[in-house]
Amino acid sequence: MHVQENFSLKAFNTFGIDISARYFAKFSSWEELEQLKEIVSNDVPPTPLILGGGSNILFTKNFNGLVLKNEVYGIRVVAETPDHIIVEAGAGENWHQFVLHCIANNYAGLENLSLIPGTVGASPIQNIGAYGVEIKDSFHSLDAYHFHDKKIVHFTANDCAFGYRESIFKHDLKNELAILKVRFQLNKKPNLKTSYGIIEQELAKKKISNPSIKDISDAVISIRSSKLPDPKIIGNAGSFFKNPIIPLAKYDELKHQYDTIPGYASDKPGRIKIAAGWLIDQCGWKGYRKADAGCHALQALVLVNYGKATGQEIIDLSNQIIVSIQNKFGIDLEREVNIF
Ligand code: EPU
Repeated sequence: MHVQENFSLKAFNTFGIDISARYFAKFSSWEELEQLKEIVSNDVPPTPLILGGGSNILFTKNFNGLVLKNEVYGIRVVAETPDHIIVEAGAGENWHQFVLHCIANNYAGLENLSLIPGTVGASPIQNIGAYGVEIKDSFHSLDAYHFHDKKIVHFTANDCAFGYRESIFKHDLKNELAILKVRFQLNKKPNLKTSYGIIEQELAKKKISNPSIKDISDAVISIRSSKLPDPKIIGNAGSFFKNPIIPLAKYDELKHQYDTIPGYASDKPGRIKIAAGWLIDQCGWKGYRKADAGCHALQALVLVNYGKATGQEIIDLSNQIIVSIQNKFGIDLEREVNIF
């Protein structure tokens, strides 16, 4: 394993924040992780920070530790039943390329999750989701290396404690593991999820009445490209905040005052998920820019770095947004992005 010192992470986080890591190395197998102890001095935190695509992270200062870029690759079918295919992918594989691989082979289930930035290994950490589908719906199992116990641990879907943008890897096991391989149980016969309004509209626009999984993927790609900024052009980490899940009574009260407030069913009884982007938009932040930190002009849930913003400037903007949402609606917004 080749370890570099004082290494710039600008190209390794989609916000494009220019900070450096005290140590940086890439790994492509767990055997390389076993050698870590001999490589890094004792004065850095014992657990490294694992980077996948760097698409859900905001650095606010130099990282005084070891950053490991996950480059575990490979995609293969590991089992097949009359209805399902179990596909395993290395955690370092690009998520969207993996989805396209599944679509090309007619493995159904991930098509609504097309064009989400990041890697396969990051997908279970925050149970990525879009257009009515979350990865927990197709997740089979994963293998991860436990840094402290120095062994490979196997997780089933139950072990992962998935929730809306949540899993055990963000809580009890935060920063303790390197995810190595993830398996998905995909369908031979598609079970299409087209009920999300905007997908129906996109298919109607293209005059598609009997869509294939490729048609759904293409529709999702068009929708996402039309309103989400491409991190290669404008730095961002997708949704910066989670959609808040509020009591039904609070929603009814708000609905009385603001009849356009969007609400979605949540898996929490007596509670409803509302659109943070709508709340932020209502407070007038959409398109706001101060120096190089801004709120995207087409989707207020996405904070952007126009070039030279620091992580602290993005955090300051997010704090101002949180305060204004609290003042206007009495709702606490929670950040979705990991802050370091
Ligand atoms: N809205 C506004 N103004 C805005 C943004 C949104 O009024 O500036 C309204 C929209 O008109 C719509 C509602 O808010 O009525 C919801 O907007 P949208 O469908 O764009 O989705 P979202 O709730 O803002 C979530 C996910 C996205 C995912 C989309 C589609 C979270 C935190 N975000 O966004 O995920 O792509 O749904 O399913 O749950 C991501 O996590 O990085 C991400 C992009």
